[in-house]
Amino acid sequence: MNFIKTSLLLLFFTFLGTAQTTNKTQNPISKAQFIEELIAKMTVEEKLGQLNLPTSGDITTGQANSSDVAKNIKEGKVGGLFNIKSASKIREVQKIAVEQTRLKIPLLFGMDVIHGYETTFPIPLGLSSTWNLSLIERSAQIAAKEASADGINWTFSPMVDISPDPRWGRVSEGSGEDPYLGSQIAKAMVKGYQGTDLSLNSTILACVKHFALYGAPEAGREYNTVDMSRIRMYNDYFPPYKAAVDAGVGSVMASFNEVDGVPATANKWLMTEVLRNQWKFKGFVVTDYTAVQELMEHGIGDFQTVSAAALKAGIEMDMVSGGFLNTLKKSLDEGKVSMQQIDNAVRLILNAKYDLGLFEDPYRYCDLKRNKTDIFTKENRAEARKTAAESFVLLKNDNQLLPLKKAGTIAIVGPLGNNAVNMPGTWSVATKHEMAIPLLKGMQEVLGQSAKVIYAKGSNLTEDAAYEERATMFGKTLNRDSRTKEQLLNEALQIAGQADIIVAALGESSEMSGESSSRTELEIPSVQKELLAALLKTGKPVVLVLFTGRPLVLVEEDKNLSAILNVWFPGTEAGYAIADVLFGDENPSGKLTATFPRSVGQIPIYYSHKNTGRPLTNKEGKFVKFLSNYIDERNEPLYPFGYGLSYTTFKYDNLKVSSPTMTFSDKITVSVDVSNTGNFDGKEVVQLYSRDVVGSVTRPIKELKGFQKIALKKGEKKTVSFELSVGDLKFYDSNLDFVAEPGVFEFFIGTNSDVQQKVSIELVK
Ligand code: BGC
Repeated sequence: MNFIKTSLLLLFFTFLGTAQTTNKTQNPISKAQFIEELIAKMTVEEKLGQLNLPTSGDITTGQANSSDVAKNIKEGKVGGLFNIKSASKIREVQKIAVEQTRLKIPLLFGMDVIHGYETTFPIPLGLSSTWNLSLIERSAQIAAKEASADGINWTFSPMVDISPDPRWGRVSEGSGEDPYLGSQIAKAMVKGYQGTDLSLNSTILACVKHFALYGAPEAGREYNTVDMSRIRMYNDYFPPYKAAVDAGVGSVMASFNEVDGVPATANKWLMTEVLRNQWKFKGFVVTDYTAVQELMEHGIGDFQTVSAAALKAGIEMDMVSGGFLNTLKKSLDEGKVSMQQIDNAVRLILNAKYDLGLFEDPYRYCDLKRNKTDIFTKENRAEARKTAAESFVLLKNDNQLLPLKKAGTIAIVGPLGNNAVNMPGTWSVATKHEMAIPLLKGMQEVLGQSAKVIYAKGSNLTEDAAYEERATMFGKTLNRDSRTKEQLLNEALQIAGQADIIVAALGESSEMSGESSSRTELEIPSVQKELLAALLKTGKPVVLVLFTGRPLVLVEEDKNLSAILNVWFPGTEAGYAIADVLFGDENPSGKLTATFPRSVGQIPIYYSHKNTGRPLTNKEGKFVKFLSNYIDERNEPLYPFGYGLSYTTFKYDNLKVSSPTMTFSDKITVSVDVSNTGNFDGKEVVQLYSRDVVGSVTRPIKELKGFQKIALKKGEKKTVSFELSVGDLKFYDSNLDFVAEPGVFEFFIGTNSDVQQKVSIELVK
């Protein structure tokens, strides 16, 4: 394979007539030799060009050569471009790089392909709620196939930032609060994007982001300061990044925030000591958007100083700032950075291009025919629909109000009930938003003639027009209605009056979460709550279909409604997938991966907290003076991590462990019987938690150690077993050594993190 690759490579350079051909030998050369020879030919300027990642700017088809960025490419000042869509445009731009530059080095083409490409899957928080690793991997595989068919060879995904803070808008882009689950998902996504051979034209380079700790900004405010102990970083926040590195991710994106007082972009401890020395990362690190420039705002020096600091910290590629391109030559001349440091960075970028097969065929990802066969296909959309249905979390379903019958008249009411462009959710750069399926259309098509569906908007997103504008940026409008609140409400009540059942489609707009969308209040906007109250007053059954990019505070809704289905932002197939679940063609099986608080004041909130010296032990939420609790709120969340209902019910019994003791070389099995005791076939996420009862440092009250998503037919019973070894009981101690300590461990298996049933073992030396 390597031989073929290298021979083709030589052929390619012969064809292009590059400097390589003059030295070409008949013997295949290794990747390392190829790259070293190339580096040896590069001027300093050409080297710095490889480290430069500008945006594509405005490139129109057929005119790439005269675009602003073309001049820089021709001068060898560009290593890659991002956010340019379409194989034909990318082909034109690549042509400039490989035909009009001195060394003819191909470009990387990046994009934020975050949860699908044109076929858009649920937002990552929704995807994680499937707890279905093969579906998640498959979604990344499909995203890679579509993106690569459109010219893209590099995605800025997976985003694996752990966050216990739903005020932060980017919780929507991650996999929630848990490091174990986050790590499994990080691996699945990297595998999905990169496959086993990066040089295939259907796989693309992944980029794990944002390294590190971006999900822990103070007060949940975007880009804010992060401050945490190293022991916490290693135990709770680092694992998913490390899992992605272990899975072979080809690139890492540095985060905007500071880590231990030094911005990640200039943090040598983080980028070199942790990432390279401890984790043995072999790919390259790119900054986030303008992050080098922002180091000046952080207050660590002028442009030249911060650019040099970033390179020396271990950053290889500068996204948008131009600091590497424009200042590193001066720093080199002044001895502030070395040629070796620059060469190291160039080498890693060229390695990635080589691994993608770009030297062999720079147009590998620009097959113009694939657009028709590989993008937004029936098969891909069917997969997205299935995945979306599996991401929904049934939060409440009293008296089995759901599933609905396919009969009678159903009123859809709410600002999200007939909207396409908000369905894909945040960071869906490649989506054709108007092609997404609104709830109304999905319901109508799934129901056909069997039932009548009527619709009223009911209210705007919020009463405050300026807020609505901030919350529907980038064209994702909710078509603000000029009618008054009363007029909208009257129409809604009139429509509701004709219906047997009301489906209220409420919540956030898609841009109320995502980057730069922090919130201090986490309730459904008040005008929508008023609408909901009026609908409930009709006395008709009301189902809340909740659109959200983050955990919300739903105390009132939980109290007043019989049924709540949380659908996040489901992607392009939204309307179909929601209808599939509402009418019982699919049984919901999603589980929360982030805790839903009772109040904003409980935040940060997560299930794997410590016990404290004064824990509140009563489960009734009764206040006890001088214990760790609030005088105005209970400690427990509204819905715990791992929570989610089904149309059927599951019973857990016979929890047992294979042995009461375990040595450092043994394996033990913890098992439980799970039965489907309800009236529907269904899927259940069986969750295993452990507690390390006594440690040299304090340990969480519970930690997720495993999960299995199983399908059970009505009446069926299965035994679910988890095998554990000492590796599963390890944690980072105060020396940051990864250790397991002898002593008692408790294991819990249940339907969510609130499980109480447990067995114990003793770990002995
Ligand atoms: C975001 C990144 C994204 C980058 C490129 C930044 O604003 O933080 O997640 O990959 O832009 O679009």
